[in-house]
Amino acid sequence: MSSNEAIDYAKKNGATFVAELKDLLRIPSISTTPERVGDVRRAAEFVAEGLRSAGMENVRLIETTTQQRKGHPLVYADWLNAPGRPTVLCYGHYDVQPPDPLDEWKSPPFEPDERDGNIYARGAVDDKGQMWMHVKALESLLKTDGKLPVNIRVIVEGEEEVGGEGIAAFVREHGDQLQADAALVSDTEMFAPDLPTLCVGLRGMIYTELEVRGAAQDLHSGMYGGAAPNPFVALAQMIARLKREDGRIAIPGFYDGIEEPTKAELEAWRSLPFDEEHYRKTEVGSTELTGEEMFSVLERTWSRPTMDVHGMPGGFIGAGAKTVIPAKALAKISFRLVPGMKPEETFAKYKAFVEEVCPKGVQVDVRMIHSGEPIVVSTDNEYIRAAQQAMAQVFGKETVFVRGGGSIPIVGDFVRELGIPTVMMGFGLPDDNLHAPNEKFHIANFHRGIESIIRFFEIVGQSA
Ligand code: BES
Ligand code: MN
Ligand code: MN
Repeated sequence: MSSNEAIDYAKKNGATFVAELKDLLRIPSISTTPERVGDVRRAAEFVAEGLRSAGMENVRLIETTTQQRKGHPLVYADWLNAPGRPTVLCYGHYDVQPPDPLDEWKSPPFEPDERDGNIYARGAVDDKGQMWMHVKALESLLKTDGKLPVNIRVIVEGEEEVGGEGIAAFVREHGDQLQADAALVSDTEMFAPDLPTLCVGLRGMIYTELEVRGAAQDLHSGMYGGAAPNPFVALAQMIARLKREDGRIAIPGFYDGIEEPTKAELEAWRSLPFDEEHYRKTEVGSTELTGEEMFSVLERTWSRPTMDVHGMPGGFIGAGAKTVIPAKALAKISFRLVPGMKPEETFAKYKAFVEEVCPKGVQVDVRMIHSGEPIVVSTDNEYIRAAQQAMAQVFGKETVFVRGGGSIPIVGDFVRELGIPTVMMGFGLPDDNLHAPNEKFHIANFHRGIESIIRFFEIVGQSA
């Protein structure tokens, strides 16, 4: 069977694959930072070149534009020479999150460093390393067999970490160019080391900014304190109204229409190997876990909506002390949404509530930065079964189903706009530090990922 040859090829060339990945990780393709626009494009070109030398066809960059600005390019490739066989759409993203706080990294974020079987770098697992597995699985098949067992389209975006508007517009306008029978996404996690995992649900999100204005300009806090409104205090008061101490969000109607997980799903979650105390200590590292106590931690992070504050820029944040009443203050606030919730409706309820509780003397502007819909995928299809089987073969264990608390905005569009089954086969580990200092990818999982993907394509091809 050709997959054996492809797997041998992947094993023989494993070290080269890792070296190439490190070259990609050296490119600081931070999609949210305007100064990095050239680096983001360089990463896109690197991925395009990788697809080309893997033997993929019609490789090109697709420019994206959204309302306000020119976006980062998409990378497209295909190989459609298996008539009668299904077409799989491979998705990944080559953009990364900002690396700060820099001084908490043990090695610099864009100088990949290998330690104890891991590659440390921003983007190692989210998602350059996982996206590269797709490219290398395709290369392994094409270089050994000269063909693929299925038809393949590849779409890799450079704006996932900023909401993925460009790819969403492309799917809406040119969905036909991505026509496929199923999508394969490798941008999620395994539930535990060595436990093959398929992710079958993601939370959606709205990412917002609250801007509060008080005085016409910054003021001396001794001269005016007591009489002039302080926008940070106002912000703190408004934020405190959003979430109750028991973790419940206090926006009227916020929970309306939420779809609960099925009994069977909850049952399956209860049998996952989850140690709450270990999670608290080693992953979270706090003295206590917080949130809605009547829900398990897995429910709280997978099937319950929530609110978080990411930062409050403004005022004086330098070393030392400055006695000022800032004229304005900002808070970056996001909500994670679960099935049954609509981003626009949630935003409208939130905006109305914030405007209602806004203290006197200040004005609040509630802005949406980006949003994405929650999603649960059906598990009753041949693609999920093929993925389950492929991973079980590689790991020698039964594949489990989980949800992810994170969001991948375009996955909802694959399901809704393209109407195709989506397989989220992820190889990250719970302690891979996504979005945090010392992000890593376990190198063994990189190789097992490539093998799982090769096998997945083979199984899908055989079932045709
Ligand atoms: N790969 C993550 C999403 C993820 C992580 C899903 C872990 C499941 C498990 C993705 O790159 C991500 O971080 N998405 C952002 C989306 C946002 C910026 C629109 C997120 O979830 O914060
Ligand atoms: Mn990702
Ligand atoms: Mn991410």
